[in-house]
Amino acid sequence: MVYEINSSNVTRHKSLIDRTDRERLHGHKGAVIWFTGLSASGKSTLSHLVEKELHSMGCSTYVFDGDNVRHGLCGDLGFSEKDREENIRRIGEMVKLFVDAGVIALTAFISPFRKDRQRVRDMVGDDRFIEVFVDCPLEVCIQRDPKGIYQKALKGEIKDFTGISSPYEPPEKPEIVIRSDKEEFSEFAKQIVDFVKNPGIFFS
Ligand code: ADX
Repeated sequence: MVYEINSSNVTRHKSLIDRTDRERLHGHKGAVIWFTGLSASGKSTLSHLVEKELHSMGCSTYVFDGDNVRHGLCGDLGFSEKDREENIRRIGEMVKLFVDAGVIALTAFISPFRKDRQRVRDMVGDDRFIEVFVDCPLEVCIQRDPKGIYQKALKGEIKDFTGISSPYEPPEKPEIVIRSDKEEFSEFAKQIVDFVKNPGIFFS
């Protein structure tokens, strides 16, 4: 636990409608599609493609992206192991609310540590957590380097950089693995959408 609970004298209010009511309105269950992988592995590109596809099918969706969230909600956090843990904890709490609202949340965070991803899985429930490992060899990510940050990390200008000077723990049993060193992103997106249709996210 990287934070202290300082809220006392607070009581939970029970909503007059529950998740099932909201889900009925959406026509599908709330769920999280959790993309994990190295920087430049293709998490953001894929999550937006999958969102577009789901949206065109009438789903209620929202993408949370590492670079965006770190400008706001998690703008006070850096990249130490402790800060990354807190980053994923906050995202986890946020996506839990979206799942409760009946939305399909898609997340694109490196989320390098297994225990942090597992905590989110436990929070939202196994049947609503679809972990997508965006598996791209480090050399390919370094070659892509769209933001020039791998070059900086290799020169030692950025510390604790995932894959260079900070570890990445690949998922042991992800629901989906995408070998994203190939450029068939629209195919990958289709594959993910097909999977999402399977485990009972959609009402028939
Ligand atoms: S996470 O490890 O806490 O899940 P997150 O996905 O939010 O990371 O942010 C990753 C993004 O921050 C990268 O895509 C990259 O643009 C940027 N970044 C800046 N410094 C680092 C670093 N030390 N390690 C990894 N990514 C970094």
